[in-house]
Amino acid sequence: MNKRTLVTYFSATGTTRGVAERLAHAIGADLKEIVPAQPYTAADINWRDTASRSSVEHAHRDMRPALAEPIDVEPYDVVFVGYPLWWETAPRVVRTFLESADWAGKTVVTFATSGSSTRGADGVQLHDSAPAARWVPGRRVAASESEAKLAQWVDGLNL
Ligand SMILES: Cc1cc2nc3c(=O)[nH]c(=O)nc-3n(C[C@H](O)[C@H](O)[C@H](O)COP(=O)(O)O)c2cc1C
Repeated sequence: MNKRTLVTYFSATGTTRGVAERLAHAIGADLKEIVPAQPYTAADINWRDTASRSSVEHAHRDMRPALAEPIDVEPYDVVFVGYPLWWETAPRVVRTFLESADWAGKTVVTFATSGSSTRGADGVQLHDSAPAARWVPGRRVAASESEAKLAQWVDGLNL
């Protein structure tokens, strides 16, 4: 791709990280991790516990966990944003990232990993966190998806 492209991702247990690394390699993009200031422990991501950190953040749409460090998207034309589906949407820290940047003139594409859900991977529910961006609908990616298949997907996008 001749556009300046960045792959960003949040990953609590490594699955989205693996996909993000293969995607960035496949398309020759830079790679940056969305790192929460306070990492998520196993207890934090226990979705069966309504008092766990992830459950509480999900219950409160306005919660914005802080980032460990800002991510500068200024040098890029296209930014991929990857995340695990948590209750069929992105973890709140992804919104913290989206709301921290100026998206005017930039294209954003999401990708998500999950146990099985596909709902929430297209990123439509996140548009209000970056209304200035040009959003291209993303999709769920299988944990083991190959670089060749990821490159083929990106080739077919209208970036
Ligand atoms: C808090 C929480 C909520 C989840 N909700 C869903 C869900 O709604 N649908 C689904 O298919 N998987 C769900 N999962 C499974 C994750 O999406 C899946 O394991 C993902 O690939 C993890 O990515 P990661 O290793 O990059 O964190 C959930 C996992 C957690 C921790």
